[in-house]
Amino acid sequence: MKDNHPDFVVQQEIVAAGLAALDPIAKDYLIGGAESEATILRNRAAIERRALRPRVLVDVSHLETETKILKRKASLPIFLAPVGALHRFHKDADSAAGAAAGSAGLPMFFGSLSEYKPAEMRAATTHDAGYQLYVQGDKKWVDDQVQMVQDIGFDALCLTVDSAVYGRRERDMLRRFEKPWRKIFSPKAKHQAELTWKDIGRIRSNCQLPIILKGVASAEDARLAVEHGVDVVYVSNHGGRQLDHAQGTLDGLSEIVEAVVGDTKLFVDGGFMRGTDIVKALAVGADAVGIGRLYCLALAAAGQDGVTRMLEILQHELETALALTGVNHPSLLTRRHVTEEPFLIAQPHLLSAFPLLDTGR
Ligand SMILES: Cc1cc2nc3c(=O)[nH]c(=O)nc-3n(C[C@H](O)[C@H](O)[C@H](O)COP(=O)(O)O)c2cc1C
Repeated sequence: MKDNHPDFVVQQEIVAAGLAALDPIAKDYLIGGAESEATILRNRAAIERRALRPRVLVDVSHLETETKILKRKASLPIFLAPVGALHRFHKDADSAAGAAAGSAGLPMFFGSLSEYKPAEMRAATTHDAGYQLYVQGDKKWVDDQVQMVQDIGFDALCLTVDSAVYGRRERDMLRRFEKPWRKIFSPKAKHQAELTWKDIGRIRSNCQLPIILKGVASAEDARLAVEHGVDVVYVSNHGGRQLDHAQGTLDGLSEIVEAVVGDTKLFVDGGFMRGTDIVKALAVGADAVGIGRLYCLALAAAGQDGVTRMLEILQHELETALALTGVNHPSLLTRRHVTEEPFLIAQPHLLSAFPLLDTGR
């Protein structure tokens, strides 16, 4: 590894190194959620409550994990979720994360609040790049952005719709941390709050790229997304950073699958940090799973090398989990491979996937 880091062999070491590398403001900004942070706990609880139902005596000596998420074949059913302020975690920010995603053969979504210019984001990765848009202007502004995203050669347009207003992130508020990029949510700039399904219809008719609606959390909205020609319903609650007391995304996905099965692709994110977490999401019905804070911590730990190593460990965990669940390709996972238990295996918190980690909570 570069950055003078020892080789990491388990994810927990990367998480610990990432937490240690961050200044207190950046750390709280990264790990925090809205208000009581119940949504973060519910994301983990929805994962921890589920158990796997493995099948045995299946030949898993040849395991394939390749899958199509956006345009190119992805090496795993995983992508890097949009994070608008990566520069808070490492000086190389989007370029380091993009390079790691590209060399791992995975798509990455770039956030429109990034300090990078859109063309720099697109150049940061050799694999698929999605552009995540926050609406910061009138209809013409949006139409121009859509055109720009297509001209630059992004592979998908991702509209985040769980952010009509900015969530109350009390860790940041207690530190009086004023984010410069928050101005798009100021009372004067109401563009995000004014967004409706009508706009999605208009954007759809102007955009040749796949449209991904990020932040869908109910079966009703998933149906509406399909009716408005959306290509991917991205089940997310922004990692618990927007609405407090929202449903865990794996529970949301479960109801959404029933409403739109076969009509659209389904992505999910929110607390997925382990190979078994990914297997559960795929078994419930996701086509691909987004990684958020885990890659930010890996970036903070060791830049591009840290993200690369995190993805290698996640791949190994995922392959192990698939083999032990008795499938030799992610697409063979079904709802029969997962069940709901009446109790939680761990007391959920943001990093409860790593029980050996001393989080100092
Ligand atoms: C520091 C940080 C910044 C984020 N910025 C954005 C953003 O600009 N746009 C967006 O759609 N989602 C943003 N998200 C949400 C992520 O895309 C994703 O939904 C979430 O992190 C998934 O949960 P996880 O962190 O538990 O994996 C951000 C998340 C974090 C942690």
